[in-house]
Amino acid sequence: MGDAVESTAASAPGKCILFGEHAVVYGQPAVAVAIEQRLTVTMTPASSWSVDGSPLNSKKHPHIMMLKEALMSKDTPMALRVSGDIPNASGLGSSAALSAAVGAAMHHLSAEHEALDNDRLSALAHLAEAHAQNGRASPMDASTSVEGGVVLLSNQREERGDWLYTRRLATPEGERTWEVHALPAAADDIYLVLGNTGVHAPTARQVAMVANALSAEPHRMQEIKAIGTVARRGIEALIRGDYEAVGHAMSENHLLLRNLGVSSPELEDLIQAATPTSLGVKLTGAGGGGCMVALTRDPKTTSEAIELAGGRVLISRLGNAGVRLDSQS
Ligand code: PMV
Repeated sequence: MGDAVESTAASAPGKCILFGEHAVVYGQPAVAVAIEQRLTVTMTPASSWSVDGSPLNSKKHPHIMMLKEALMSKDTPMALRVSGDIPNASGLGSSAALSAAVGAAMHHLSAEHEALDNDRLSALAHLAEAHAQNGRASPMDASTSVEGGVVLLSNQREERGDWLYTRRLATPEGERTWEVHALPAAADDIYLVLGNTGVHAPTARQVAMVANALSAEPHRMQEIKAIGTVARRGIEALIRGDYEAVGHAMSENHLLLRNLGVSSPELEDLIQAATPTSLGVKLTGAGGGGCMVALTRDPKTTSEAIELAGGRVLISRLGNAGVRLDSQS
């Protein structure tokens, strides 16, 4: 037997937006939940830095590079292995889960750092996201992946939910601020069924499309405010545990998003298929492709309907754990 090799594994969940995408860019509240699907990273000392066998590269691995510079005081080369069941580039937060898991593992390995709390880890994961997205990223994905459960984001402190921290980011359009809160929610018999269209629509393009529509027709800001009103109703329903009303708010949110122009024929097909067996159905994330989400008590039938309509399906309960160290040796 050779010397014991210290390797560290950490995992973090993906996320799904229940209410408020796009409107959150204009200060309205938005809610995301941590899903059961997770990303795991294992780090083992090696002769040079690598990710799944390829040399660490700032273009290919901007999140990991930034976290390494922030967290690894000594440059001890590590071989990273990334695995998990969150599909890439589908609006389910795989890159934030990578940042959260890598951040937790690097912090564990770098003994010289003070205790890393969720606040600091989610701030670092948010910065890594922003670094990789030309300075434009809300803290939604990073906070949900680190905290787990249900996270509420707003441009103001909300009475509903437990306030966690403020996030500030200098973006190309000026400084932006978000207030991040945790919301209570847990239900045994309620499921999210995520239907992936397999169509990749970049978030930046979708966000720019909404910005252009609002600048051409400023009165359409009413639609953004309406999404905020529906999100607030959904938040109240979540806190009451009234999942019929949560579903209703989700479906209403979708109609507003569709009107805004961010749905797609593929998303509409999956949404239509899931509607008869769901409490509520909507696109989730930036739209134009990516995923839809159905809230349902009958995940099997809802999944089958989505698959028949051509979607790839993931099933998750609400209220999943945030980032955690999975093993150390
Ligand atoms: O597709 P995602 O998961 O990256 O979600 C984007 C959410 C938006 O509201 C459209 C953009 C944002 O920065 O909040």
